[in-house]
Amino acid sequence: VNRPPPKNLSPQTVLHRLPRLTVSIQSDNTTHITYGDRETRTGAWTLAILDAFSCPRTVEQVLQQLQIRSTGVQDWIDLSGCILALYRAGVLVDELEPSLSPVKNAFDGARIHTIMLNDRERTSRFLSAIQEVVSPGDVVLDIGTGTGILAVAAVHAGASRVFAVEASGISGFARATFKANGVDDRITLIEGWSTQIDLPFRADVLVSEILDEDGLGERVLEATLDARNRLLKANAGLVPRRLRVCALMVNIPDEYLNRTSFTRRGAEDWLSWYGIHFEPLVDIAERNPAPIKVRPTIASGWKILSEPIMLAEVELGSFSGTTAEAEVTGTAIGTGVLNGLLLFFEAELSPGNWLSTRPGVAGPECNWQNLVLVLPAGVPVSPGDLFLIKYQYSRSRTTVNVSPFDLRPQSQGS
Ligand SMILES: C[S@@+](CC[C@H](N)C(=O)[O-])C[C@H]1O[C@@H](n2cnc3c(N)ncnc32)[C@H](O)[C@@H]1O
Repeated sequence: VNRPPPKNLSPQTVLHRLPRLTVSIQSDNTTHITYGDRETRTGAWTLAILDAFSCPRTVEQVLQQLQIRSTGVQDWIDLSGCILALYRAGVLVDELEPSLSPVKNAFDGARIHTIMLNDRERTSRFLSAIQEVVSPGDVVLDIGTGTGILAVAAVHAGASRVFAVEASGISGFARATFKANGVDDRITLIEGWSTQIDLPFRADVLVSEILDEDGLGERVLEATLDARNRLLKANAGLVPRRLRVCALMVNIPDEYLNRTSFTRRGAEDWLSWYGIHFEPLVDIAERNPAPIKVRPTIASGWKILSEPIMLAEVELGSFSGTTAEAEVTGTAIGTGVLNGLLLFFEAELSPGNWLSTRPGVAGPECNWQNLVLVLPAGVPVSPGDLFLIKYQYSRSRTTVNVSPFDLRPQSQGS
C-alpha cells in the first residue's frame, strides 16, 4: 500500500486514539493491537498511552501526564518512542474522521441518537425550554451534547458561547452539526466526561439530557452536582430543573412475561417442544429478579393497580447528595394480580413544561421504555390494599422492592 510518509510529531500535535481497537498483552510484555484489517505490536507503555489519548490531547500534555511514572532516561525514551510508533502505525491519529459504532444502543452509534431525534415530544420540549431559559449573551454548558442539537438550540436562543461536552465518539458528529449550522464559532466542543473537564469560566445555564429509563441511572445527579460545584455560576438556570421518579403497581400480562422472562409456562413449553428441562432457570430468575423493559404505549394497555407513587423528587438546582431513597406505601385502586412495579420519570424542563414517560401520557415516539420490576409471586389485590415500597438509588443503580404492608400492630398490648 502506498501511504504518504507520516508527518512529524511536535509537542503541540493533538492526537486521539482510534475509537475501536482490540488490544492483547503478550507473554513478552509487548502489546498486540488489531484495528480494522491492520495490526501492530508495540512496547510496554502502550496501554497507558492509549488511555491518555482516549480524548484528544497534545503530545506534550500526555508526556507530562505520564513522565511521573517513568523510571529514568531510557524509560522516557521508550515512552516517547512508543507514542511515535503508535502514530506511525495509525493507531494515534491527528484528524479523526468520526465513525459510528456498530454496537446496538452505544452512544457512539447512530441508532440511539436517531431514536432520540425522532422523539419529537422530547426534543421539542427541550428546544422550547432552552428558548425560555437561555437569555441573549448567556454562557451555556451542554453536558452530553450527542449529535449537538441542544447546543445549537442554545445558540439560536442567543447564547454567546456554548461549551458542548460529549464523552462518546459521537462528538465528531456534533462538530459536523455545529459547522453545518454555521454556529461552530460560538460552540466549543469538549470531548470527555463533564466530571473530568474544566471550563475557562463558569456558565449561566446548564442544558443536559442525560436521563435514562429510571430517571437517574445515567448519573444525572452526579454530573449536575459536579457542574454546580465547578462549572456553573451560583443560581445558574437548569434545563431540566426538577426530576421525579414514580412507580405504578401493575399486572404484567402473562404473554408479555413469557416473552421477556424465564417463567414456569415458558419452561413447560420448551420441555414439550425440545425435551429439555429449563425449570432451574426459572428458580434462579425468581431468586434474582431482573427488571424487564416495556414501551409506555404497550404498558398503557396493562391493568394499572395504583395511582402514581412518588419515589424521589429532586430539585436539580439545590439537591445536595447523589443518592436517593424512600419508603412509601402504595394503595391498590383496582382488583387484579399485582406482579410488577413499573417505574417512570417526569422531568420539568422549564416552569410547567413537563416531559413524562408515564404510560398513557408518553406517546408512541417516546424513546424511553419503562423499567418493570417483576414480582415472581403475584399477589391478588383489591382496592384499599396497602404495599410497602422501598426505593434506593446509589451509584447508577436503582433497587426497588415491594411487600404487602401489614397495618396490624406487631404485638398485642405493647
Ligand atoms: C441521552 S443522550 C442526549 C444527546 C443529545 N443531548 C440529545 O438531546 O439528543 C446523552 C449523551 O450524553 C453523553 N453523556 C452522558 N453523561 C455525560 C457526561 N457526564 N459527560 C459527557 N457526556 C455525557 C452520552 O455519551 C450521550 O451521547
